[in-house]
Amino acid sequence: MSALAARDETLSAGPAPAARLRLPVASDDLFDGVDRATTFAREQAHGNRDLMGLVDILGIGGPFRAVSPWEIEDEEGRHLIHAGGYAAVPFGEGYPPLVRTVERYLAEARDMGLPQSSLSAWRAALEENLVAILASVAPSHARSRVFFSNSGAEAIEAAVKFVRSFRPGGTLINFTRAYHGKTAAALALTPNEEYQAPFRPLFGPVQTLPYGDLDAFETALRELGPDRVTAVIVEPIQGEGGVIRPPAGFLKGMGELCRRHGIPVVADEIQTGLGRTGHWFASVADGLDPDVITLAKTLGGGMVPVAATIAREEIFQKMLPGVESKRHSNTFGGATLPMVVALRSLELIHEEGLVAKARRDGEAGLARLRELAERFPDLIVDVRGAGMLFALQIRAVAPSRFLPVDAELVDQVGAALALRALHLTGVHGCYSINAQRVVRLTPPLNLPENLRDTLFDRVAATAAAYPQSWRLLGTMSPARWVRLARLAL
Ligand SMILES: Cc1ncc(COP(=O)(O)O)c(C=O)c1O
Repeated sequence: MSALAARDETLSAGPAPAARLRLPVASDDLFDGVDRATTFAREQAHGNRDLMGLVDILGIGGPFRAVSPWEIEDEEGRHLIHAGGYAAVPFGEGYPPLVRTVERYLAEARDMGLPQSSLSAWRAALEENLVAILASVAPSHARSRVFFSNSGAEAIEAAVKFVRSFRPGGTLINFTRAYHGKTAAALALTPNEEYQAPFRPLFGPVQTLPYGDLDAFETALRELGPDRVTAVIVEPIQGEGGVIRPPAGFLKGMGELCRRHGIPVVADEIQTGLGRTGHWFASVADGLDPDVITLAKTLGGGMVPVAATIAREEIFQKMLPGVESKRHSNTFGGATLPMVVALRSLELIHEEGLVAKARRDGEAGLARLRELAERFPDLIVDVRGAGMLFALQIRAVAPSRFLPVDAELVDQVGAALALRALHLTGVHGCYSINAQRVVRLTPPLNLPENLRDTLFDRVAATAAAYPQSWRLLGTMSPARWVRLARLAL
């Protein structure tokens, strides 16, 4: 029977009586563990089948179990240092000081879970602490306000609405290789053909300028007419773009030009903020005094989804004034559990000195990666880093002109094979979803020193095992290649 015929039959039968429904899975059973094949079959049947298929072919798809906050175990019992999580895992998995606070909250507190339009002690405390942290490095933010949501992209949507209400009718300026997320406005600000093409027309107008080019920025501002620019949105370091830093002076110079014309600047610190790059805010450390800042990832302590958009008071009030203060809202933003986790996460970053530690460990780690790039130029073209955010640019695994596929796909396969090679040596890394042939390492900020050294020893062992990039092709058996070809072509 076709899917449509089945649907018609179901509809004509009317709603199923409750007694006929038996949930196929009991939550209690999951505590006892589930075999991998069952999980894979369930994901194949009802989840993102091809993504799970792809990581399965590569042998990097888990499921993983934490054996310590910083190490995970795959289904074959292999222990890996956790340098994945896309910069959203500041303390590793199940870090006891964070878990204890959550357990205490669940056991002792009786606060309403979704305070929404009512007061919340936890949300209020987080607002105060977040602004205090920001104002400690950017004093002009002492009176700023915070809007909470549930994902980085959603924080960007809020930021775009803030600046549009503040300065309506103009163009948004973004930069080449930017990554701001995949919801409607965030996608329009993420110039990547693969992600944008099927969804045109996109939200706009958006003008994309070369990242890091102050002269081009000044020229574009003159040509567009500063009065016709609503805002600039910028990542102080491009994370998904492959850990790209703009040239010194770019952020500061751009900020000064914008200030002169009253154009608000949104610093997207979703990836870079709260210690990851060795600073509370990478934009501020680089001389920018942004008007709006977006945060997510680290804020959730690697445990819950939570995001924040911090805006200067006058910008915040313009969108959410008086009886219009519900003009932008969401159901779950400011929910108590995420506030508890975020509040404790900021405290741990502060108490454990993780901002300075990330800077120190970042320098040590980058020095190790630079040595590797020198020793293995046929594998590693470049390495980049900012605190505990590292990128390895891998040489192309094969010249695409000899293959029946496009260069983009060859690059994607190259990065995926590098991730597989790292996995086999005991490192769980992450892809760069807006860059070519880049793998990233985003270890927890509190990674103990001995594990930090082991992490880079293992990266070195991986490079030594595959000293030329084409050798990465040999990490996969013919059977895996056949499956990959079926999926990709
Ligand atoms: C700089 C930046 N902005 C926005 C986002 C989107 O965040 P999310 O994936 O939580 O929607 C990301 C995610 O990687 C990011 O790195």
